[in-house]
Formats: sequence, structure tokens, C-alpha cells
Amino acid sequence: MDIVLSGIRSTGKLHLGNYFGALRNFIRMQEENNCYFFIADIHSLTTHPDPTMLHENVKNVLVDYLAAGIDPGKSVIYVQSDVPETAELYLYLNMHVGIGELMRTTSFKDKARQQLHIDRLNSEEGDVEREIFNENNKNSVNAGLLTYPVLMAADILIHRADKVPVGKDQEQHLEMTRKFARRFNNFYGVEYFKEPVAYNFGNELVKIPGLDGSGKMGKSEGNAIYLSDSPNEIEKKVKKALTDAGPRVPNSPKPDYIENLFTILRVVSTAEVVQHFEDKWNNCEIRYGDLKKQLAEDIIRVLSPIRERILEIERDDAYLRKVTMEGAEKARENTSKTIADIREIVGFKRF
Ligand code: TYM
Repeated sequence: MDIVLSGIRSTGKLHLGNYFGALRNFIRMQEENNCYFFIADIHSLTTHPDPTMLHENVKNVLVDYLAAGIDPGKSVIYVQSDVPETAELYLYLNMHVGIGELMRTTSFKDKARQQLHIDRLNSEEGDVEREIFNENNKNSVNAGLLTYPVLMAADILIHRADKVPVGKDQEQHLEMTRKFARRFNNFYGVEYFKEPVAYNFGNELVKIPGLDGSGKMGKSEGNAIYLSDSPNEIEKKVKKALTDAGPRVPNSPKPDYIENLFTILRVVSTAEVVQHFEDKWNNCEIRYGDLKKQLAEDIIRVLSPIRERILEIERDDAYLRKVTMEGAEKARENTSKTIADIREIVGFKRF
């Protein structure tokens, strides 16, 4: 059986992007694989959350995992900070990773721009590097953010995972994980780590756009539909999505903000429904009111059962505690073996 591992940061409630990019695959994969799904609470420290909020968000992700259908009887569910072996492996991997390659990572550059308050639109090549070393810039970028991909590689490699179900935005991190695994193996002359792949059932990785015409739906971008949103909230959010006066010329290309609505429609609706609205668009007969009504209805159909379970599970702290305690124990059966091997490989032998 293949080993599957994935995680989601505890930075807020989960949304449609997390669901279609990651969670839905977690649930499908747990039937036929040896699965580990965790809550990346250490990763979320890069943005310095308030401790009470952090705890609340770990609970949110855990409840969303269970409500969406991850079954603790089939998969191991754990909290990252309950498994200290990951942090130990992160330390060792860091010794074989270059600062330069980390500084060139897309996600680092994006987040560093935010933290350094560099205007994204007017930013240029070399701006992040320049501002990091600019003594007059009062804002700094923490080393945890720089080494974020190393911690992520440690999460994956500590379980020697084969497949990692993730959305499109994590592709580069998976490439880095493979590179770090190869480098470790080559340096120590061992065939220890496997090279894991980003996985979506043989299909392209998914990227769900935001409802505001922006590139990506995100937990804190103010453009998300959450798994816990009520039907009323979903209708309101969809209604507010940006549209225009409609196409004037048949078969026009769609502007991004309209293409985004179709992208979401493609994951929640049937092929016939999508075709119906494609035809309407191509004939310049599209009525956005109808499109939005259908979109909201189909999102509600997907999310309603999840929302009902969220409302049930979130009240049951004893159950949540049991799931995470048992999960940590099962995860550590695996991670403690890996870390014992790694210690030996790097040369930490007992006298
Ligand atoms: P995070 O917490 O940002 O997102 C969790 C998962 O949801 C996917 N995702 C999306 N997919 C499609 N469209 C979107 N708009 C969208 N937004 C988020 C992400 O691709 C991801 O699969 N670094 C990771 C967490 C992590 C991890 C790991 C993942 C830490 N260690 C080890 C896998 C393996 C992250 O920040 O994901």
C-alpha cells in the first residue's frame, strides 16, 4: 500500500479551495492507502498568530477534516506539534539546503513581499533580496518563513510518503522535497528517502479562484466560501461576485473574473449544467443572475452535509481530544522509526 501524507495550515476555517484542492482527495485516498493527515500548526507560526487564535484554528481544521469525511478509523489524523520527530528531521535537512535556493522560492517571495510591505504591483526582480538587507526597512522576514519548504519536506519525508494530495500552489514545494530527498540520499550514499509526488488522481492539480476576481481563494483573503458557511451566507457571497454587462460578440474569450465563476461551476455542477452556461455565454445570452443562482445552489448542495456535521462535531471536545491523542500515538510509531534511522545515517551512534 502506498503511503499518503498531507496537511493544512491552522490559519483559519477551511474553504472551497482547500476542499477541491486537497480535502476531497484525502477522503477518496483513505480507502486504499496508508494515510496520514495532519494539522500544520508549526507552519502557521511563521505569521505570529495569537496563541488563543492558534488553538481555535487547530480545532477548526480538525473539525473540518472530520466533518468532510476523514475517518480516524481509516486514516491517522494528528497535530504537527504533537510529533516532535518532524522538527528534528527539519533540523538535519536544513544543513543540506542552500539559503539562495530558499530565497528563490515563489511562496517565500510572495510572503516576504507582504511582510516587507513591498508593493506587489510595482515590485521588480531582486526587490525582496534588496529589502531583506536594507537596514532602513523596519520590517523583517523571519528565518522560519525562509525555511518553510524544509519543514514541509520534513513532514513528508518523516513518513517516507509516496503521494501527497495538494493543490496547484504547492507544486513547487513538492519539487523541492524531492530535491532535498535526493540530496540527502546522495550525500550519505543511501537509498533511504523516496521521492514523493504531488497527487490528484492522474489529473492536473487544482486551483480554485477567489470570488473577487483574484487569482486564488485563500483563508485570509476575504474572498472565500467556507465549509461552515450557511446557505444564506453562500448565496450572498456568490451574488456579490464581480460580473459585467455580458459579452457582445459570440464566442468571446471570458475575462478572468467570469472564467473564475465557470471554474467553480466546473467542480460543483454537472457537465450538462456547465455546457448550458457555456452555450449561453457563446451565444451572448448569458444571464449572470441565473448563473449565480445555479452556482450558489450547487455549492450549497456540496457543503450542506459537511456544515451539518461541523455543527455536531465542534461541540464534542472529548471526541476531538481522543482523535488527536490516538493520532499522535500512531503517527509517532512511524516517525520514531524514521528518526532512529536518520540519526544513525548522519553518524549519531551510541557508544
Ligand atoms: P495551505 O494550508 O495553504 O492549504 C492546504 C491545502 O489546500 C490547497 N489549497 C487550494 N487548492 C486549490 N485552490 C485553492 N484556492 C487552494 N487554497 C489552498 C493547498 O494546495 C493545500 O493542499 N504548505 C501547505 C501545508 C503543508 C503541507 C505539508 C501540505 C505543510 N506541510 C506537507 C502537504 C504536505 C500549505 O500551506 O497549505
